[in-house]
Amino acid sequence: MKNGNILVVDDEKGQREILKTILSCEGYDVVTASNGKEALKLLYDGVFDAVLTDLKMPDGDGMTILTNILKEKTSTSVVIMTAHGTIDSAVEAMKSGAFDYLTKPLERDEILVVINKAVEKTRLLNENIRLKGQLEDRFKLENIIGRDGKMQEVFKIVRKISNSNSTVLIYGESGTGKELIARAIHYNSIRRDKPFMDINCAAIPETLLESELFGYERGAFTGAYTRKTGLFESAHSGTLFLDEVGDMGIGLQSRLLRTIQEREIRRVGGNENIKIDVRIIAATNKNLDEEIKKGRFREDLYYRLNVIALRLPPLRDRVGDIPELVSHFIGKHSNAAGKKVTGISDEALNHLLNYQWPGNVRQLESVIERAVLLTEGERIEIDTLPLEICNKPMQIGKIDFDIPADGISFEEFEKELLIKAMRRADWIIAKAAQLLGMSYRTLQYRLNKFGIKKELYTLHQKV
Ligand SMILES: Nc1ncnc2c1ncn2[C@@H]1O[C@H](COP(=O)(O)OP(=O)(O)OP(=O)(O)O)[C@@H](O)[C@H]1O
Ligand SMILES: [Mg+2]
Repeated sequence: MKNGNILVVDDEKGQREILKTILSCEGYDVVTASNGKEALKLLYDGVFDAVLTDLKMPDGDGMTILTNILKEKTSTSVVIMTAHGTIDSAVEAMKSGAFDYLTKPLERDEILVVINKAVEKTRLLNENIRLKGQLEDRFKLENIIGRDGKMQEVFKIVRKISNSNSTVLIYGESGTGKELIARAIHYNSIRRDKPFMDINCAAIPETLLESELFGYERGAFTGAYTRKTGLFESAHSGTLFLDEVGDMGIGLQSRLLRTIQEREIRRVGGNENIKIDVRIIAATNKNLDEEIKKGRFREDLYYRLNVIALRLPPLRDRVGDIPELVSHFIGKHSNAAGKKVTGISDEALNHLLNYQWPGNVRQLESVIERAVLLTEGERIEIDTLPLEICNKPMQIGKIDFDIPADGISFEEFEKELLIKAMRRADWIIAKAAQLLGMSYRTLQYRLNKFGIKKELYTLHQKV
């Protein structure tokens, strides 16, 4: 097994060879250099998890190697070897950023323990760098799908407010991407390297929510055995996302209002005011105007939160984004499940375009996830979609049922409906009859009555 890449630098040939043997036996890939110049060249060309270098060498010393590595900001850990009695220089090296030091004569077990730790540290650092990069990528606006005008509007505001500390209120039905946008605001702001904390205000009882937000002192109530830090404190200098803020109890709303106004909190059971610097982003799927009218939401809090308002459109109002979302989710879930699904049939996509999506993007994502799992070939077909998406005769909400002041022609309306159904059913009467919830004979009779024939309507077919 490969354990990591090690560079050994020592001017004594015998020493280099012993180290190489010891480390190779443990599964490390070892490269050696006899002087600083050679080592720097190797470092420049390769990637090492750890460098084990002698401190004093004729052509300059291990310190030069160390400072070069640190200057390059690589995650490579440097272990210094010093002769017995020169502990001061080892301490010096540690202060300059070396990972650890070993004193000669070297002990096999000690070498292995230190190198093992050094390699592990490099791995963790690299992993963190990778994860952080992924996280930031995910919340980059370019990676959030929304060509639709209303979404573009949202992105524009997110960009504009990235360097401000203003409170943001995000409105949107369930599953429209409120949390995604909240995180995007954070990761595009100057606070991106600071914590992002979130809490769902609807999910927990009020007293619990209070201690989650504000923390408590030891002995504040029965069972408070230790002091607890609240989210406001943990999110200090970062962002706190209050999800479903419309469901917060009225008592706690007053406390939240005071916190926003005074920029300080007091832990439950405490008497010390603690200054906090937290940007608040709140989200709700409730109509807060209604809640205010019903006396369930404080108007003054509403104005404090609503400094910048973002409205995420429901998916049915941005159907144009569906194809891109679908291919995004196919990619994501196909990868995750180790499948080779790469696309979707036109027919299946049509159904997705016509559906109303009460659960919005979240629902679309789970539909695609399921379809990817069920698909055996490379393309998602209609038979892997849930019944409610394929079997709905029509989407009532898609048709504007408002009757204009000057009235409509019922016959024209009926005719339109029949043509729509036939088109949707690829001109197969049995299928259209099913879509309309009528018998084959009834439909045939009506088609004849209006003279609806495929030849007449397929030339100017709307897409
Ligand atoms: N525009 C988008 N592009 C890509 N993925 C999206 C988009 N909008 C939402 N998603 C994905 O859909 C899922 C639901 O989004 P999110 O959790 O942000 O919604 P929400 O509004 O907070 O939902 P809820 O009200 O249910 O909490 C997430 O997996 C999110 O990554
Ligand atoms: Mg959410």
